[in-house]
Amino acid sequence: MIVERSKTALITGASTGIGAAFARQLAADGMNLILVARSEDKLKALAQELANAHQIRADVIAADLAKLEEVARVIAETRGMGSEIHLLINNAGFGTSGKFEDQDPAREQEEILLNVAALVSLTHAFLPGMLARRAGGIIQVASIAGFQPVPYMAIYGATKAFVLSFSEALWAEYRGRGVKVLALCPGPVDTPFFEIAKAHDMALGKMDTAENVVATALKAIERGKSYVIPGPISNRILTFLTRLGSRANVARLTERMMRPKAKGQG
Ligand SMILES: NC(=O)c1ccc[n+]([C@@H]2O[C@H](COP(=O)([O-])OP(=O)(O)OC[C@H]3O[C@@H](n4cnc5c(N)ncnc54)[C@H](OP(=O)(O)O)[C@@H]3O)[C@@H](O)[C@H]2O)c1
Repeated sequence: MIVERSKTALITGASTGIGAAFARQLAADGMNLILVARSEDKLKALAQELANAHQIRADVIAADLAKLEEVARVIAETRGMGSEIHLLINNAGFGTSGKFEDQDPAREQEEILLNVAALVSLTHAFLPGMLARRAGGIIQVASIAGFQPVPYMAIYGATKAFVLSFSEALWAEYRGRGVKVLALCPGPVDTPFFEIAKAHDMALGKMDTAENVVATALKAIERGKSYVIPGPISNRILTFLTRLGSRANVARLTERMMRPKAKGQG
């Protein structure tokens, strides 16, 4: 079992959105938690609420995971707590949107460091313990954006393609050794994500809830799936269609779907 009472889950990006929903569900299932994000106040409030409500242990490590030295500190502090990480949820991430030439290169570097480098480092840190115990799971939060290039969110799509590819490779490497790895690939979810990505005029359709994403992910990892796409069937159809066209046609079509509206077009 991956979700197991009294075992510990480490969740990055636990202060809001999908990460906070994971924390709530796992606490209700009796797991102890280590919550990581930059917003210490939000993490502490959530940890206290969940510890009181479910008689679990909930620790907080405030850290900026876009900084390599902070990732190393999270790993060291976690080891210092003496808890074995049974479930690692690499969820912290953000997107940038708009024309590539208009992007702030420093912000894009942060996006790559957070969405990719931190995720790899934390996986490196906690996978060996799981292998030694022949038990544990890793949920890597990718996206449906990882299945094809995403013009006007080029860096974001590329980071999520990395996460998807990396996670599926690990799933195949470790499936016989007691460790489950899942790439979680949501479509649009109602969280602060789009506000932060400044993706206001994107046609998103009906958004999924963070709670549904979490429930789908936890079911999928228990079943040993390599990836899962929660939400409406349209999410799964979209990713399937990208396998049918030529790579150039898929990129051209996505460019048309994602093209920012010219000002005044409404
Ligand atoms: N919402 C969607 O439509 C959607 C769809 C597919 C995939 N996803 C993925 O789902 C994951 C969670 O996103 P969300 O939708 O829940 O968005 P969110 O509500 O904006 O949550 C992002 C989380 O990451 C944390 N974070 C951001 N920068 C960080 C940094 N430098 N260091 C440490 N933590 C940081 C944030 O906390 P602090 O600000 O406190 O640091 C927050 O807890 C992301 O990987 C995202 O790419 C989202």
